[in-house]
Amino acid sequence: MAAARGEFTSRFGFLMAASGSAVGLGNIWGFPTNAASNGGAAFLFTYLILAFALAYPALMAELIIGRHARANAVTALRAISIGGKTRLAALLVGFTGIVTVSFILSFYAIVSGWMIAFFLEPLSRLLGMEGLSNWLTSDAVVRNSLFVVLFMMLTVYIISAGVKEGIEKWASRLMPSLIVILFLLIVYVLTLPGAMDGLRAYLIPDFSLIADPSLLVDAMGQAFFSLSLGVGTMLIYGSYINKQENLPTIGSMVALLDVGIAVLAGLLIIPAMYVALNNGVEIYDDAGGLIAGPGLIVSVLPALFDTMGAVGVFVAFAFFALMTIASLTSSISMLEVPVAYGVEHHGLERRRAAIIIGSIITVIALIIVFNFDPLFDIVVTFTTEISQPLLGFAFCIFVAWIWQRNEILEEIKSGCPDAESGLFWKIWPFYVKFICPVAILVVYFQ
Ligand code: TRP
Repeated sequence: MAAARGEFTSRFGFLMAASGSAVGLGNIWGFPTNAASNGGAAFLFTYLILAFALAYPALMAELIIGRHARANAVTALRAISIGGKTRLAALLVGFTGIVTVSFILSFYAIVSGWMIAFFLEPLSRLLGMEGLSNWLTSDAVVRNSLFVVLFMMLTVYIISAGVKEGIEKWASRLMPSLIVILFLLIVYVLTLPGAMDGLRAYLIPDFSLIADPSLLVDAMGQAFFSLSLGVGTMLIYGSYINKQENLPTIGSMVALLDVGIAVLAGLLIIPAMYVALNNGVEIYDDAGGLIAGPGLIVSVLPALFDTMGAVGVFVAFAFFALMTIASLTSSISMLEVPVAYGVEHHGLERRRAAIIIGSIITVIALIIVFNFDPLFDIVVTFTTEISQPLLGFAFCIFVAWIWQRNEILEEIKSGCPDAESGLFWKIWPFYVKFICPVAILVVYFQ
C-alpha cells in the first residue's frame, strides 16, 4: 500500500494545498466578524500572538507526526505510541478526529452550498431570469439541499483524483485566483464612501477589551479552526510532504499565509459593512452589535451589492466566487481525512472511498438542512468548541509526552539538517510540552 501513497510534487503545491485548507470561511467570514465584535485591532493583536504562540506549534506537531508516519491519523498516532494503553488512546484520538472532521464538513458544506447559490445569482440576473434569481437567494430547504449535494459532488470529484491530480492541482489553480480576487475587491471597496469608517473600526484597537476572557476564547477558537487543527487534516497533508522539505519553514509559511489572508479579509469585510451602512443598509442587530452571523453574508452584503447598481452584479459575482473557492479548498482537506483512513486502513480504492464517505457526509448534511434550527448550532458547537480543542490538546500530549524526543528531532532534521542548533528546536519542544496543553485547557475551561 505504501507505494500507492500520493505526495505533493513541489513546495508550491504543498503551500497552496495547506494554505487552501487553512484559508476558508473561517478567514473571510469568521475572522473579520470576530474582530469587529471584539474590539477591532485588539482582537487582531491577540489573534496574531495566539496564532504564532499556540496554533503554529500545534500545526507543527501535526505536520511532523504526519510526515514521520506517512499515514492517516489513526495509523500515525499508533506508530508513535509505545505500550497498549497509549495505542488504544491513539486509536481513540485518531478516530474521534475523523468523526469530528466529517461532522465539520457536514455543516461546512451547507454554508458552502449557500455560497454557490449566491455565486450563480448574479449570472441569473444578467440573463434576466428574475424567478431563478429569487429562488437562488431564498432560504428554501430544496435550494439548500440541492446546493449541499452539488458542493459535496465537487469535493468528492477532486478528492477522487488523488493528492497530485486532485488536491495539488486544484489548490494550485484556485488559491492564486482567490488572492487576486481578494485584492481586487479590497481596492474597489476602499474607494467607496463609508469605507474609511470601517477601516477605523477595524484597525484602531479598543484595548479595554483585551483582558476580556471572551476575547481570548474567541481568538483561540478562531486560530484553531482557521489553521484546521486537531482533527488530522494537517497531519494527513504533512504525510504527503517529501522528506527533503524543511518543515519548520513551510509550516511558518502556511501560518503566515493563513493569518495574512484573514487580516486582508478584514480589510474587505469591515469596510464593506460600513459602506453598506452609508448606503442605508442595516448593519447592526437588535442588541446593537454588528450583524455577524449568516445574516452578514446572505443579507447585509447582498443588500450592499444591490445598492451598487450595475457594478454590484460583478462585485457580487467576484465576492461569492471568492467564498466558493475558499470553501472548496478547505472542504477537500476535510474529506481527505476519512478517505485516507478508508484507503489505508480498510484497503478501499480511493474513488470508492471518496464516494462512499462523501455520500454519508452528504446524508448527514441533508439531515441538518431538514432540521436546521436545532441541529446546525449543536453540530457547530460540539465539533468546533468542544471536540476540536480537546483533540488539539491530545495531539500536543502525543507529540511532547509520548513520542520519543530523538525521533522527533530526526524527523525535523530530514530536510533541515542543522535543526538541532536552530531556534525552532530551542523553543518548540518546550512549547508543545507545557505551554500549549496548559493554554488550551485554561482557555477551554473559561
Ligand atoms: N480552516 C478552514 C477555515 O478557516 C476550515 C477547515 C478546513 C477546518 N479543514 C479543517 C476546520 C479541519 C477544522 C478542522 O475555514
